[in-house]
Amino acid sequence: MVNFDIRHFNTLDSTNTYLKALAQSGEKEGVVIIADKQTSGRGRRGKSFYSPEGTGLYMSILLRPDSTKVNPTLITTATAVALSVAIEEVYETKVSVKWVNDIYLGDKKLAGILTESSFSCNPDLNYVVVGIGVNLTTEYFPDEIKDIAVSLGEDRKDELVKSILAHFSLLYSDLSSPDIYRQYLERSFIIGKEIEILGENKVLGKAIGIDESFRLEVELVNKERIFLSSGEVSIKVKKE
Ligand code: BTN
Repeated sequence: MVNFDIRHFNTLDSTNTYLKALAQSGEKEGVVIIADKQTSGRGRRGKSFYSPEGTGLYMSILLRPDSTKVNPTLITTATAVALSVAIEEVYETKVSVKWVNDIYLGDKKLAGILTESSFSCNPDLNYVVVGIGVNLTTEYFPDEIKDIAVSLGEDRKDELVKSILAHFSLLYSDLSSPDIYRQYLERSFIIGKEIEILGENKVLGKAIGIDESFRLEVELVNKERIFLSSGEVSIKVKKE
């Protein structure tokens, strides 16, 4: 079990950036950084994560897993399950997971996860920082974000944090448990949907499944089947 040490801030540039600096200076596993507001919140693929005060939960967790045994994708997927279960528990609403790191409510994005890791020759300085951003209200969001984002609508941040950490701690103690895969799969948002693989060229296909290594199986337009690894590609679900 991880011993969590929760530290609150009013404003940070990014809870992930702040925690990565602490990790590099030797901070222990289990430190959790929460900010009311981020001035440079970050998402995957260099995107920014809109994080004004009073609209969301912005938190990061420092982990020091055994680098010879752990694959950071498993930490992202375990976090997706822990976050989904926690939201469902606290807000009594069912959510789904869009491969690989987005949580959806209906057909809009509710939350995202940004996992950043560093593995070097000094094992004492190896770390994984998992960042979680959840929309609590979209009232003040600009229209272009409002169109694609959804929120929980009520601030039960303290309960939510408690529940996320409790579920995460349990899953983190056995990252290869088939239970994580089962819970991830049963919430999958994209299986059976038409998708676009984001990259230099536009590639279209249909999401067929997710294997036990959390690779996405896609059938391309020419019927060829390929497997996508989470670290390499992102996808966009096509509107029906
Ligand atoms: C994504 O949607 O691509 C991931 C979003 C992750 C946002 C969270 S908010 C807390 C933590 N700090 C950051 O700068 N990003 C993550």
